[in-house]
Order: sequence, then structure tokens, then C-alpha cells
Amino acid sequence: MKITQADFIISAVQPHQYPDDALPEVALAGRSNVGKSSLINKMIMRKNLARTSSQPGKTQQLNYYRVNDMVYFVDFPGYGYAKVSKTQREQFGQMIETYIRDREQLKLQLLIIDIRHAPSKDDVLMYHWLKHFNIPTCIVATKADKIPKSKWDKHLKVIKETLEVDPRDHFVKFSSDTGLGRDELWAVITEAIGT
Ligand code: GTP
Ligand code: MG
Repeated sequence: MKITQADFIISAVQPHQYPDDALPEVALAGRSNVGKSSLINKMIMRKNLARTSSQPGKTQQLNYYRVNDMVYFVDFPGYGYAKVSKTQREQFGQMIETYIRDREQLKLQLLIIDIRHAPSKDDVLMYHWLKHFNIPTCIVATKADKIPKSKWDKHLKVIKETLEVDPRDHFVKFSSDTGLGRDELWAVITEAIGT
């Protein structure tokens, strides 16, 4: 994908702040620090448009990035950060559930998993939510550069088994460092948004 335009649009807290121009949206969910913002930066070939956070758990908004006047990437706050209060966690759950349930523009949900670790309880919960609401989902196993290639299959198997992945869902190996999986993920996205 040739990127001609990529802009940060808004950090939205309330649904009325979401963009109203009806472009398709691809949202990213995953644990805090798993590499969501880095993945966006790699996809759009910008070093630091999506802010890679030094303060995990702080952002509780949906960050919207518009790419090529074609699609929005919607960066969710990371979950599973220990120091987040119970109230914040509930607010997060409500915001995400409402978005996933009601947002017609959501065409594809990326669930970002660290290839090195088995999915957490929150990952499993998120995936089951997505399945429950019938959201087209692509699992992205990122940070692939962090383990030797010879171990990839073993780790992917653990991820698939823990999530009980629906074989119809897309599954992409990725690295924001090397760019592995970038073209494949763009292909999944363009298919999902129908361009
Ligand atoms: P939150 O916004 O706090 O939820 O984090 P995030 O999921 O957006 O993670 P972020 O992109 O900020 O990345 C966290 C750390 O992991 C940073 O230090 C990144 O440089 C590093 N990182 C992300 N992706 C990769 C990858 O594919 N390979 C390697 N080696 N490091 C990565
Ligand atoms: Mg981030």
C-alpha cells in the first residue's frame, strides 16, 4: 500500500466525537505495550504518528488516524495494565463494548498478541466478545523479530489453541521492526473495507 496521507484526527472519549464522514474503520485491541501504536506506524510508514506510550494505561480514549482518505485506524487503549483502577477498567470495558456493538463503520478488528506469550484472560475475553458480536477479526501475532523463526509455529499454535481461533479468521505474523507481515495485513484490510 502506498501511503499518500496519514493524519491524527482525534482522541475521542464520547461517541459524538467519533468522525462522522462514514469512512470504514479498522480498530486495534490488545494488551498495554503489546505494540498497537508501533503497528499503526509501520502500516502507514511514519516513525511516530501514533504515539508509542511511555505511560502505559494512561490513555483511555480511542485515537483516530485517517489514512489515504480511505480508512481510519482506531487505536484502543491497552488493557491489562495492573495500575489501572477498577473504575477505569469498567469505563474502558463499557467504551469498547459500545464501540464494538454499535459502530457500523467497524469493518475489521485487529487483535494484537505478543507472539512470545500465550494470550491473557483479557485477550480471550476480547476475542469472544468479537465473535459474539460477529465482528470480522484478524489476529496479529506481533514482535515476531523477538524469537527465532524456527519457534514461530510452536508459538502460533499456543495462540490459536488458547483463543480457540475460528479458522475463518485471518491470522498474520507481524513485526513492526522488520516490516514482516505489512503487505499481508494491508491485503486483509483492503479486502475487509472493500477497496
Ligand atoms: P499502549 O498504548 O500502552 O497500550 O502500548 P502499545 O500497544 O501501543 O505498544 P507500543 O506500540 O507503544 O510498543 C510498546 C513497546 O514495544 C515499544 O518499546 C516498541 O518499540 C516495542 N515494539 C512494538 N512492536 C514491536 C515489534 O514488532 N518488535 C520489537 N522488537 N519491538 C516492538
Ligand atoms: Mg499505544
